[in-house]
Amino acid sequence: MLSDNLSSSKLKERFVAVKTEDGHYTLYSNEFQEHCHSLSGAFQETMHFYVQGCQIEEILKRNDHCKILEIGTGSGTGYEATLSNYKIEHGNLDFVTVEKDKDLVDWLITCRTLDRNDVPGFCELKLFYSDNDVSFYHAKKNGVSLTLLQGDCRISLPKFLNQNSFSPDAIFQDPFSPQKNSTLWSVEWFMFLKKISNSNTVMSTYSASSAVRKSMLEAAWKIQEINGIGRKKSGTKAVLSGDSDELLLDHLGRSPQLPILDSGLKT
Ligand SMILES: C[S@@+](CC[C@H](N)C(=O)[O-])C[C@H]1O[C@@H](n2cnc3c(N)ncnc32)[C@H](O)[C@@H]1O
Repeated sequence: MLSDNLSSSKLKERFVAVKTEDGHYTLYSNEFQEHCHSLSGAFQETMHFYVQGCQIEEILKRNDHCKILEIGTGSGTGYEATLSNYKIEHGNLDFVTVEKDKDLVDWLITCRTLDRNDVPGFCELKLFYSDNDVSFYHAKKNGVSLTLLQGDCRISLPKFLNQNSFSPDAIFQDPFSPQKNSTLWSVEWFMFLKKISNSNTVMSTYSASSAVRKSMLEAAWKIQEINGIGRKKSGTKAVLSGDSDELLLDHLGRSPQLPILDSGLKT
């Protein structure tokens, strides 16, 4: 269980395992001073905002395959929730997830278990590329492929995409909050995500911040509201074809918040 094996790992000074109200654990990061999930339910929130928010089941039905990019691996709940309703006959799943914390990645590979073994688990990941900044891991079984890019994703993702062809159908935008990790919510970041996407890509996030929504709009994503769950009132879905919600645009037009900028990120 997440809480047992975490306390004996190198991570214990930087992360604390916390049980959330749906019985699933999240991690509290001492560095970011934030939980990886809402305390009202780590698994429930992940299912709602990401797996259902991006309509993974519908993408699989439509295409027979689905390529998912998760920004922030954290405790591995995004992958676990994606697999919870997934059957091999639904089609191929290609899950790429990014995590900058090396010790967290080492812990995932050594200790993180899943409750099924017909698909690759974190413990089956093998290193296939490494340099001073990044380490890339991969495992594949029964049409499901799991790739974990360790390193700052502003470096690891462009590097990975230079070597591999991957354009996500769905993006789980789940780094820590804009207050704690603003560069991954900036106009430049959303422009980068747009550049690597295709016309049908859907991005979803738990964040309903006006600054985040304005950053997405500035990067030419169309934004729509996702209903909330637990203590969260709403989230955001962003698409590249289709329209933004008129009500949201109207609300944003009256908000004094500005888009978030990251002058250090080249697009
Ligand atoms: C909210 S948690 C992700 C939770 C995860 N999606 C899950 O379901 O368990 C955010 C994660 O993003 C990682 N992160 C933050 N900034 C990053 C960056 N620049 N590059 C890669 N990972 C980053 C953090 O270390 C943290 O583990």
